[in-house]
Amino acid sequence: MDMLEFLRTRRTYRRFEQRPVAPEILTEAVDAARIASCGANRQTVRYIVVQSADAVAAVQPLVHWAAYLPPEQGQPKPDELPTAFIAVLQDDNLPGASDVDVGLALGSLTAAAWAHGVGSCIMGAIDRPALTKLLALPDGVRLYYMVALGYPTHASKLVEMQDGSVKYYLDENRGYCVPKRSMDEVLLKTL
Ligand SMILES: Cc1cc2nc3c(=O)[nH]c(=O)nc-3n(C[C@H](O)[C@H](O)[C@H](O)COP(=O)(O)O)c2cc1C
Repeated sequence: MDMLEFLRTRRTYRRFEQRPVAPEILTEAVDAARIASCGANRQTVRYIVVQSADAVAAVQPLVHWAAYLPPEQGQPKPDELPTAFIAVLQDDNLPGASDVDVGLALGSLTAAAWAHGVGSCIMGAIDRPALTKLLALPDGVRLYYMVALGYPTHASKLVEMQDGSVKYYLDENRGYCVPKRSMDEVLLKTL
């Protein structure tokens, strides 16, 4: 797959097969995030891999899916849930916390997973206090995002934006249609 095709298909996935992701794939995704570029090379981002069935089940009710869709469409059913999570954390004991660093780490992590066919959903709508307790975070380590992972059971395709709406929707096969702004709109000029 060429790079652009890889990036076109590395979408958000929200329904998954019920087979586990190999621990080595999850570790490799963290390794890819570990070596991402970061401001002043400070490396303040930390991770927790959640892969045991019990721990994954405990996280499920603490994350919220697909705010643009009614729950019966956007919320994965019990046999569609992700089979792993990775918590992405910021170590505030070190100087230089950076949203950009977290973003770059998330990009590498999710791309490395997708290289193995493992789809992901970066999740910011999460119960941070409850997850902080569940994950038993060390002092000064702050939960940023959860990433849900698994083998997707649905398609996700990019579509032309209609009437300026950024809202994704489902097609007749429950595949996600994700509107993106056109090149004409985002590339302001070339000098
Ligand atoms: C920072 C961030 C937070 C997100 N939080 C959630 C979330 O809490 N729940 C969810 O279902 N999707 C979440 N998403 C997924 C976005 O809805 C998704 O990236 C967007 O609709 C575009 O789809 P695409 O990733 O396929 O391009 C999040 C994505 C990002 C980058």
